Amino acid sequence: TAQLHQLAVNAGLEYFGIAVGESAVQQDTTYRNLVNDKREFGQLVPENGQKWDSTEPNRGQFNYRNADIVPNVAKQNGQLLRCHALVWHSQLPGWVNSGSWNRQTLQSVMEVHINNVMGHFKGACYHWDVINEAINDDGTWRPSPFYNTFGTDFFALSFRLAKAADPDTKLYYNDYNLEYNQAKTDKAVELVRIVQAAGAPIDGVGFQGHLIVGSTPSRSALATTLRRFTSLGVEVAYTEIDIRHPSVPSSASARVTQANDYANVVGSCLDVAGCVGITIWGFTDKYSWVPGTFPGTGEALIYDSNFNKKPAWTSISSLLAAS
Ligand code: G3I
Repeated sequence: TAQLHQLAVNAGLEYFGIAVGESAVQQDTTYRNLVNDKREFGQLVPENGQKWDSTEPNRGQFNYRNADIVPNVAKQNGQLLRCHALVWHSQLPGWVNSGSWNRQTLQSVMEVHINNVMGHFKGACYHWDVINEAINDDGTWRPSPFYNTFGTDFFALSFRLAKAADPDTKLYYNDYNLEYNQAKTDKAVELVRIVQAAGAPIDGVGFQGHLIVGSTPSRSALATTLRRFTSLGVEVAYTEIDIRHPSVPSSASARVTQANDYANVVGSCLDVAGCVGITIWGFTDKYSWVPGTFPGTGEALIYDSNFNKKPAWTSISSLLAAS
């Protein structure tokens, strides 16, 4: 049977991929064997290893033990690598979070971090999420050491530092809940404009796609929202899709709704020139951040917890095969 990445490439996308958990890929043979199947998953992204708390837990002390796990798998298999994430308010080590910074000191901290991490992975990353989640759901700028010190100047600063550290990777802004085309989406458009007006480089916007079964926008509404960004001259991608059931265990009919929701998301990418690829945030319900963060919800992925393909897998593959 045809496989998702192959089908996606035949349908005109650059890749179909997944986030890979560092401990799952090391400890679970069934999981690892599926991750290694590059015709199914042509692109990988480390779920946690490249984040700041993992790569620079103490100032100036860099550690790539965890960060290298997934990139090494991708390299061995010949899969594309998305890299994630450089400037983010979450999973920051305490020394960054609680430091008292001025522009000069924080700029130097960001420069050292970005140079070191992007330098370590230089040439290996197809995309880098340079800034992650800088906007609140209500459409205001999110407080962080970066925003609190620089205001919106940290946007262009981050992209400039990233470009200098690795000129050959595509530089992304990445966020969730952009799919609903509301205040947060407006603010993300503003962010792209701010970076562009400053003359700084930005290549893409990542739509994370953490969605809910039955409340996922239609294919055409999603495509309209993606086009708000491609019309600014940047590409877009779905970077972290999962579509959770609002209550679990799910019913058979809810799994059909989920399959339809997945098809709408993938279909919207096919409809938009400049939507380059699809990444699911994991693939098996055996491992997902969702139930831990939203208790009582879950089963958000395309394989069940016994590694069987779900209706969502079938709807995606049929859609891609028909395109
Ligand atoms: O590795 C430690 C382990 O040593 C420790 O014993 C354990 C105890 O809590 O924690 C482990 O770290 C956890 C880490 O995942 C690895 O499993 C953290 O507590 C936990 O907070 C962390 O959660 C991750 C979350 O980002 C953190 O914000 C999820 O796995 C990861 O899926 C999630 O991914 C984010 C994207 O990066 C950005 N967009 C949203 C997405 C979902 O929240």
